[in-house]
Amino acid sequence: MRTSKKTVFLAVGLTLAIFVLPVAVLAGGNAENGKKVVDTKKLGNCAACHVVPGMEFPGDVGPNLIEAMKNYSEADREMLRQRISDERKFNPDTIMPPFGTNKILTGQQIDDVVEYLLSLNKKK
Ligand code: HEC
Repeated sequence: MRTSKKTVFLAVGLTLAIFVLPVAVLAGGNAENGKKVVDTKKLGNCAACHVVPGMEFPGDVGPNLIEAMKNYSEADREMLRQRISDERKFNPDTIMPPFGTNKILTGQQIDDVVEYLLSLNKKK
């Protein structure tokens, strides 16, 4: 019996659908990596301006993120990405660095940070 092209396409298609798509959709960010990005001075350095879990002597020019996250849910994921990528879209006068636009953080690192921030809310 010879395998038709159609069968091969189907097999490849199914494999992609079953294994690759869910990973791409569900992967999102990694909260543990996100915490590292937030707490690392050369990366997020978010505690320079925000209260974040476990960081001593945080700055207070930005809102307390532990408190602020209570207003965020899964539905705000994309908005949170945008804010961290470039807060100027929401407030042109902000002093928060545009982490995405200025390539301080990669897209993956921003996803990780978002995952971490959303996880703070879930622990509540
Ligand atoms: C130089 C100071 C500064 C740094 C560094 C900074 N932010 Fe901000 N951030 C602000 C300020 C100020 C605001 C208040 C809103 C505005 O200015 O538009 C803000 C707002 C936010 C908000 C919205 C909070 C709300 O009340 O809805 C989030 C989320 C946020 N920052 C996350 C982060 C994360 C994550 C990092 C690190 C990757 C970070 N910020 C680093 C200054 C900073």
